Amino acid sequence: MCYPAPFSARPLFFLALTLLTVAVAAGPVLGQAQETARSDGGMVSSQQWIASQAGADVLAAGGNAVDAAIATGFALAVTHPTAGNIGGGGFMVIRFPNGQSTTIDFREKAPLASHPEMWLDENGEYSFQVHHLSHLAVGVPGTVAGFDKAHRLYGVAPWADLVEPSVDLANDGFELSEALAGSIARFASGRGAQYQASVAAFTNNGSPYSAGETWRQPDLGRTLERIRDDRSDGFYRGTTARLIAAEMRRGGGLITEEDLDQYEARERTPIKGTYRGYDVISMPPPSSGGVAIVTALNILEEYDLTSMGHNSAQYLHHVAEAMRRAFRDRAMYLADADFRDVPIQRLTGKDYAAWLRRDLDPERASISHPSDVDQPYESPETTHYSVVDADGMAVSVTYTLESGYGSGIVVPGGGFLLNNEMGDFNAAPGLTNASGLIGTEPNLARPQQRMLSSMSPSILAHDGDLVAVIGSPGGRTIINTTLQLILNMVDFDMDIEEAVAAPRMHHQWLPDRIRLEADAVSPDVVLALEQLGHAVQVGGRQGSANAIGVSARTGVRIGVGDPRSADAGAAGSSGPGGR
Ligand code: DON
Repeated sequence: MCYPAPFSARPLFFLALTLLTVAVAAGPVLGQAQETARSDGGMVSSQQWIASQAGADVLAAGGNAVDAAIATGFALAVTHPTAGNIGGGGFMVIRFPNGQSTTIDFREKAPLASHPEMWLDENGEYSFQVHHLSHLAVGVPGTVAGFDKAHRLYGVAPWADLVEPSVDLANDGFELSEALAGSIARFASGRGAQYQASVAAFTNNGSPYSAGETWRQPDLGRTLERIRDDRSDGFYRGTTARLIAAEMRRGGGLITEEDLDQYEARERTPIKGTYRGYDVISMPPPSSGGVAIVTALNILEEYDLTSMGHNSAQYLHHVAEAMRRAFRDRAMYLADADFRDVPIQRLTGKDYAAWLRRDLDPERASISHPSDVDQPYESPETTHYSVVDADGMAVSVTYTLESGYGSGIVVPGGGFLLNNEMGDFNAAPGLTNASGLIGTEPNLARPQQRMLSSMSPSILAHDGDLVAVIGSPGGRTIINTTLQLILNMVDFDMDIEEAVAAPRMHHQWLPDRIRLEADAVSPDVVLALEQLGHAVQVGGRQGSANAIGVSARTGVRIGVGDPRSADAGAAGSSGPGGR
């Protein structure tokens, strides 16, 4: 099958809410991905409409939300190569129709031969290039094991049916959008150019693909066939494992067949918080996201944000101060809880938030102290998608290769990109400096430890009812994008389209400044923030929150592809799982 494009290039972002509302009122068509779609049954929203459609088709055939999430994830590995992956890792948060919830952690792990000083050369000099963009930057991938585990625990459809759509997309190809054709051409002539297999996978015999051409990925198709036939053994053992280990040996990486064989995804207890009567369900460590979001919400619960006004100077000041405090704790305490003690109960408690509020001055910005600790680099390339099925099971997934196109290394003969997630470990013991390196203990590379993440797939509920499935890419901005989606819905009564479209801000403790999306606020508001003592930077876009909201009145699911992403789209589903 070869999918044609269903809608033309997106209107420019910040084409205001009114236009979005008109698009919705025009009425989406079930069974075809849309920028915004509505359904009484199932819904999938992702950064690539083709993958949303693959998930919606699984729902229509009787699969549940976990099945659809797995199919969508495999399809994104073919159609959204900057971040969709089988060579990376991520997190899945699941809320069942009875209100219970769980999570699957499939974050990459450090190879067995890792050590905290692995990015220092013989002179003890730290190398950013080696830490972030080399074979030593590759963590043991987790995605296939995570999907396998989620399916064994909670899926109902046959595994092969979930992988088959991606096999077809890779073997038969799909039509390249303008955005994707441009993106893979830039990668193949840029960072990918040094690796023959990367050039082969992302060009047409060395020439760039154009928009409208069909892109086929036969090596990736064969890898996906092995996964279809042998589940995670098709990746972690046999041919695929040998291909990965051979590329690691060739390029000086650490991952061996033993590392792959030993990789395990973990089911973990979610982070749970409450905010003005809403329940927030999110990801525990090795994500920092759930803890940081709940900390910030607990701080903000004390203030009347509604009467301050959305994105007013007073509102932005209070939110920035909450973010500042949550991010300081992130740097101080958070890491893989299998290896370090993380005081989760304390950090997510209401009493602790009261303590953090004690020095929050409504009239004056606090000051972040760089001497406490500094922050590591994090790339803004990841992808988030959301699924709800007809029974109300909700699945929130964020997964990543870390940088766009990860390490840039396509496994020869395997056709898939490897992550550069080891860059999320701290650089080296004691190496903390003003340019943003960090050397604190908890998040140093150790054999089989998982690197700290900001990915925050989350679910919002109220009085036992599902309200929204949310999350975003964007490095550390992920936490704040997800936080603001919650504030937009709870404090400002926005529906999901408004909440996703609304301009976003970011503060991460250090550097000590507020970042606002371009055109987010008027110059008066920027001035007022500066008068409160904030440094303010305006420009750019933040995140890609491909979300689903559920109408409290009718139960209708509203899927929204974030207008900031060219190919994002939502697909509603009818049929058994999406009734
Ligand atoms: O796990 C993390 O927090 C980062 N590796 C995520 C990178 C990311 O979000 C890129 N996003 N667009």
